[in-house]
Amino acid sequence: MQLKDKISIITGAGSGIGRSSALLFAKEGATVVVADLNEQAGMETVELIRSQDGQATFQQTDVTNATDMNRLIDTVHRQFGKIDIMFNNAGLEYFTTIADTTEEEWDRTINTNLKGVFLGLKFVLPIMKAQGSGSIINMASVAGLAAWPGLGVYSAAKGGVILLSKAAAAEYGKFGIRVNSLCPGSIRTPLLEEQFLGKMDDPAAAEAQLRNHYPLNRLGNPDEVASAAVFLASDSASFITGQALGVDGGLSSFVGDLISIK
Ligand SMILES: NC(=O)c1ccc[n+]([C@@H]2O[C@H](COP(=O)([O-])OP(=O)(O)OC[C@H]3O[C@@H](n4cnc5c(N)ncnc54)[C@H](O)[C@@H]3O)[C@@H](O)[C@H]2O)c1
Repeated sequence: MQLKDKISIITGAGSGIGRSSALLFAKEGATVVVADLNEQAGMETVELIRSQDGQATFQQTDVTNATDMNRLIDTVHRQFGKIDIMFNNAGLEYFTTIADTTEEEWDRTINTNLKGVFLGLKFVLPIMKAQGSGSIINMASVAGLAAWPGLGVYSAAKGGVILLSKAAAAEYGKFGIRVNSLCPGSIRTPLLEEQFLGKMDDPAAAEAQLRNHYPLNRLGNPDEVASAAVFLASDSASFITGQALGVDGGLSSFVGDLISIK
């Protein structure tokens, strides 16, 4: 029970990494507020948590909308009297070159991945400052640490998330607030399987090519990111702030198999 009696909010918790994190947070004793644009998916996460005797509620939220984000955070604060953990996880990507990215795709990518994190910080920080504690986790990516052709705009957003998280850690550490970001590699979720691999001419070949770039020689599972989120959220990480934690099978620390060795 690493998160016993903690009140947590997870955005984008209707699917993938957000859903796995919501389930694990609840299993570790947290009350989870599931926030997602997709009401049906968010309610399914809530039902899954309740079926395992966990505590969860749903609030439909568009992370790109300041009114929605303010309402989400204010409602949770009024209902529970505190917010211990904010996991700004919602995100999306388009796999395309910079020149082929439309203005609308730029806006959606930046607004969901970066503005959504900014709004989460903006509205939760004053509450955590007043209570003198809090752990915030912001979802970045290995693509925020190094370039990944086809994900240029996404990289710009995720790189922004990493630096915004460091800035928040620096500004609010003295109030007992920790802020870290997570940098997953390729994780088996609908985002990866439908929006990325599913759009390739040969998804199986693309997956094999991808896997070969990972020192662990496989893709990751949402549970493996969820357990890193639990660690950062928990008191076990009490002296860890301003970090960008890779959950990437070694990808971000590997220059590539430049000359093969047996
Ligand atoms: N899957 C990966 O390989 C991978 C790798 C690195 C980083 N990430 C990041 O992890 C996060 C979760 O990704 P995932 O793979 O679980 O994706 P997913 O598509 O499975 O889930 C994303 C969830 O976010 C919700 N969402 C999208 N836009 C929203 C908005 N404006 N407001 C509220 N909710 C919104 C969706 O409805 C969905 O439930 C994203 O930020 C993504 O960029 C994923």
